[in-house]
Amino acid sequence: MDIHQIIKLKINNKVKSKFKSIFRSIFRSIFRSIYKLPFIEKPLPEYPFGKKIWANKQEYTLLHKEALKVNDNEVKDFESEYGFSLNTNWWSDLALHTQVVIKPEKLNFFHGRLLYTVLSRYISNLSDKNSHLTILETGTARGFSAICMAKALIDNQCPGFITTIDSIPHNKPIYWNCIDDSMGPRSRAALLKKWSLELRKIIFLQGWTNTVIPKLGLERVNFAFLDAQHTKESVLSEFLYVFERQLIGDIIIFDDVTEKIFPGVCEAVREIENNYPYEVHRIKFSDQRGYAIATKTS
Ligand SMILES: C[S@@+](CC[C@H](N)C(=O)[O-])C[C@H]1O[C@@H](n2cnc3c(N)ncnc32)[C@H](O)[C@@H]1O
Repeated sequence: MDIHQIIKLKINNKVKSKFKSIFRSIFRSIFRSIYKLPFIEKPLPEYPFGKKIWANKQEYTLLHKEALKVNDNEVKDFESEYGFSLNTNWWSDLALHTQVVIKPEKLNFFHGRLLYTVLSRYISNLSDKNSHLTILETGTARGFSAICMAKALIDNQCPGFITTIDSIPHNKPIYWNCIDDSMGPRSRAALLKKWSLELRKIIFLQGWTNTVIPKLGLERVNFAFLDAQHTKESVLSEFLYVFERQLIGDIIIFDDVTEKIFPGVCEAVREIENNYPYEVHRIKFSDQRGYAIATKTS
């Protein structure tokens, strides 16, 4: 093969790979647009955290220890202002199994304490102590936040249920990128077996929030935690469902109200604050993690 043939071959290969990448990106955008059509549902993830173990027990234990070193003085101040605090040994153990994961961001599970404290005070302010509370959560993940809210219901002897939605299945054994993976794939139900009292207070639903929420038959949503897809559109559409079912004093908590990382969530919260009857209290327990507590005012 002479030099001209080699150059020709190289050019041909370059042209071929350029065409391939153009076709690939056209294919990808067609694929994405298909799932935007209202009548085509995006498939649910089968193995959201992959099919392999991410780390061993020691690595997860070390990460847990590191996360617990973070100063929690601001959380403590918040708890004493509200008058309720979650048992930290209980919280830390639940976090080890459901919050300690391999990810680039720093681990932070203070939201479990925030949810417990705010929900406990909401319960203590109820005029009818036998009211059955309806709590809605979007974004279950491994169940940490739902279990913390269930604990608040139990500790405050409040009847009620938490409905929690995620695209991840509840009964299928999978790897979760967590410490218990060393014992093989397990379902969320099995992962949370130790918290059986709390589990009795939770209804786990699998699906995309935009398809599950319209099918829910909830009359009232006393308390909600919105923590699924962190886009403005998604947060606002979940909010609208809750808003129509809340009365004065009812609460919505938003996670990840952190401008640099989740601008969509922050925009949604600003829109709610400006256009709906909610008083919004923003909280920051660290630079990378903000929350908003929205209380209905009229
Ligand atoms: C930040 S995690 C939730 C963490 C959980 N609330 C906790 O504190 O442990 C977000 C979860 O939302 C789920 N999710 C994201 N978008 C969703 C959607 N559109 N519908 C249903 N689930 C969704 C993800 O699968 C993920 O488990």
